[in-house]
Amino acid sequence: MEQLVSQIEGYKSEMSSFIANDEKQVEEFRIKYLGTKGIVKAIMGEMKNVAADQKKQAGQLLNEFRLFTENLYETLKQAASGTEVAAAGTDLSLPGDPAPLGSRHPITLMRNRIVSIFQRLGFAVAEGPEIEDDWHNFGALNLPAHHPARDMQDTFYIQQNPDWVLRTHTSSVQIREMEKGKLPIRMLMPGRVYRNETVSARSHCFFHQVEGLYIDENVSFADLKQTLYFFVKEMYGKDVKVRFRPSYFPFTEPSAEMDVTCMICGGSGCNICKKTGWVEILGCGMVHPNVLTNCGIDPNKYSGFAFGLGIERPAMLKYDVNDLRLFSENDIRFLRQFTAAT
Ligand code: PHE
Repeated sequence: MEQLVSQIEGYKSEMSSFIANDEKQVEEFRIKYLGTKGIVKAIMGEMKNVAADQKKQAGQLLNEFRLFTENLYETLKQAASGTEVAAAGTDLSLPGDPAPLGSRHPITLMRNRIVSIFQRLGFAVAEGPEIEDDWHNFGALNLPAHHPARDMQDTFYIQQNPDWVLRTHTSSVQIREMEKGKLPIRMLMPGRVYRNETVSARSHCFFHQVEGLYIDENVSFADLKQTLYFFVKEMYGKDVKVRFRPSYFPFTEPSAEMDVTCMICGGSGCNICKKTGWVEILGCGMVHPNVLTNCGIDPNKYSGFAFGLGIERPAMLKYDVNDLRLFSENDIRFLRQFTAAT
């Protein structure tokens, strides 16, 4: 009798862990346990070996076991045929709601494209806050209070704290990286920046930049040029021509702006390049010694270059978008059109 009890327990736990994903497996269950040569039948046959005074008890036990098996079989059958109705009345056999696939924002696509080119040269990505203090956005960048070059960037100040601004460039993140004191630095700073400009098809009060910073011993202007040549060829193709024009930024010396031949007309002159054949794409220069000193880096030992480019303009040219405002209006019909391909 005892043996019978433990046998039944063993079968019960074996059955409970039986997994039937489809009707075929349910049928396997039926044959194994409830079939004419199945386990339930076989164990029923044990009755004849039970002592007479225990037959009643054993009969109950075996009956119970048979019911248990039959119930389990019904449950497996229902689950596998998908007709089980949950308590809440949901039909679990209904197909699920499809989750629509989103797409990346064109600014994100262009940012990733730019970043991935520099990543191949070993640049890593750094990010920083969009609300900055005066020191990181201006002071450390060789733009002390009342410096006339502050007017180059129409700044949004924050009323609650006169020391806070919405960052006008991601050069502030360059300062944060240099302050960490870990050299050499080879970093990219992508991000959103703010300037108080009238919103129109060609300018906005916020836009996006990728800046780059490279600091090490013996970094020269030749390194800067070579890095940017590589970027331009990867971005616009082998045939594009490049020119540097002397420029002014308080945080770099010497400073330059870089133009590429217009990708729309190939240099012959069109509306996009204002008939010049050239499009300006970035500002750059050798990091000013004052900036290095402000960040605790010895300018006699280290030198470096920095550059900064906007993301909107290349994105407009690439995706043929003629109004900058479209990028921030979140019109789903606009946003759905972009893919990372090409
Ligand atoms: N910070 C400059 C800007 O926003 C771009 C720049 C970066 C220029 C680094 C030179 C070197 O206009």
